[in-house]
Amino acid sequence: MTTTSPASRTNGAVTRAIRGRILHFLRDPQFHDDAYQYWEDGLLIVTAGRVAAVGSYDSLAGEIPAGADVIDHRGKLIVPGFIDTHIHYPQTDIIASPSPGLLHWLDTYTFPEERRFSDAAYARGVADFFTDELLRNGTTTAMVWSTVHAASADGLFAASQARNMRMITGKVLMDRNCPDFLRDTAESGARESADLISKWHGKDRLAYAITPRFAPTSTEAQLAACGELARAHDDVFIQTHVAENRDEVKWVAELFPDARSYLDVYDRYSLLRPGAFYGHAIYLDPEDRRRLADSGAAVAHCPTSNLFLGSGFYDFHQSDANRLNVTLATDVGGGTSFSMFRTMNAAHKVARMGGYHLTALRMFYLATRAAAEALGWQDRIGSFEPGCEADFLVLDPEATPLIARRSHRSESLEAQLFAFAMLGDDRVIDSVYIMGEQATAGAPVAA
Ligand code: GUN
Ligand code: ZN
Repeated sequence: MTTTSPASRTNGAVTRAIRGRILHFLRDPQFHDDAYQYWEDGLLIVTAGRVAAVGSYDSLAGEIPAGADVIDHRGKLIVPGFIDTHIHYPQTDIIASPSPGLLHWLDTYTFPEERRFSDAAYARGVADFFTDELLRNGTTTAMVWSTVHAASADGLFAASQARNMRMITGKVLMDRNCPDFLRDTAESGARESADLISKWHGKDRLAYAITPRFAPTSTEAQLAACGELARAHDDVFIQTHVAENRDEVKWVAELFPDARSYLDVYDRYSLLRPGAFYGHAIYLDPEDRRRLADSGAAVAHCPTSNLFLGSGFYDFHQSDANRLNVTLATDVGGGTSFSMFRTMNAAHKVARMGGYHLTALRMFYLATRAAAEALGWQDRIGSFEPGCEADFLVLDPEATPLIARRSHRSESLEAQLFAFAMLGDDRVIDSVYIMGEQATAGAPVAA
């Protein structure tokens, strides 16, 4: 890992100039030419934590302020920090728990573990490990699930704030079909969510997501309360699960006989809108996809989870035909890795099972700019456009002997990115920067 000398100050603002191969996306490479910018010898100039300029080294070298901290990462690839749009921090310690399927896995491992998060000290301990593990894997922003306990959301917000990370979470809402020890009510869930919004939303780099677990664990009264809360706070996010597993879909049809479909349950309570993230979205029909697209809501595709729990295969052909706002997510602990590279690896294979070729360029776009756009934060994160917050990664194409050999054979940017996506994991992350400051990625993390 490169060590940095003390940063210079220009007019009171720290300026760093980072040299290396630089890649970022401006739009979806699946549908647009000129979707990305790439410089083999690039320079990223960061002032006061934000991107001041990006371009070729030759064109920008003259703009480096005298005394600026110049960091040489030549040979390595600099990309915006990854954005994971669906991950459960309270499931960190039950990752890799084998199960025949979603509903058994929830009852057997998830709910008993989530019970522990009523204890604020326990929650904060896991949140500290979790946020370090995200950084170690190059994830600088995530839409995170807490538990039903307000203290669990406090723990994650506080751990994120301590690391200056741009992060989102919310307390889970669940008032039926769950153990008593995890149950709130329509009234208490809405009140505690509103209190957490007042306390954390918009504070530093933090934001709130209204978080009904999934339709089976909320009464109609609770879903209605979620809709009201969303109307009262039109800039907060929404996250939930939809159409992940066949048994779950059947159960929802029994619980909500008047709804046209699983997605329609949420639609009836005004929970489809920009900034709403729907996890999984495997078993959708054509009308669901039209509604998702029209509403501006996003899909969090969770391929390692879908394979691990045997849930099913996300349909990329239909997703693209409807221009859905698809993003990539780990879904730890149903998902089996914190790494967005491992997630890309699985996404490529899930797409292959449907006869669809998911390119590496597209996968890097999905893990960065696509998620930023779905969050409405494209002016803040996900690219190196001037003014954006300088959260970025340095990737090592020679991180392991095998990756080095494959990288040397890569004759195109796509081939190099594909090698990262198929072979990469936390070992590829050379360093991580948050608002222009180097984070401790790669350092040993205490248990
Ligand atoms: N559906 C409802 N809760 C969960 C959860 O915690 N994980 C996953 N993968 N699906 C869910
Ligand atoms: Zn989930």
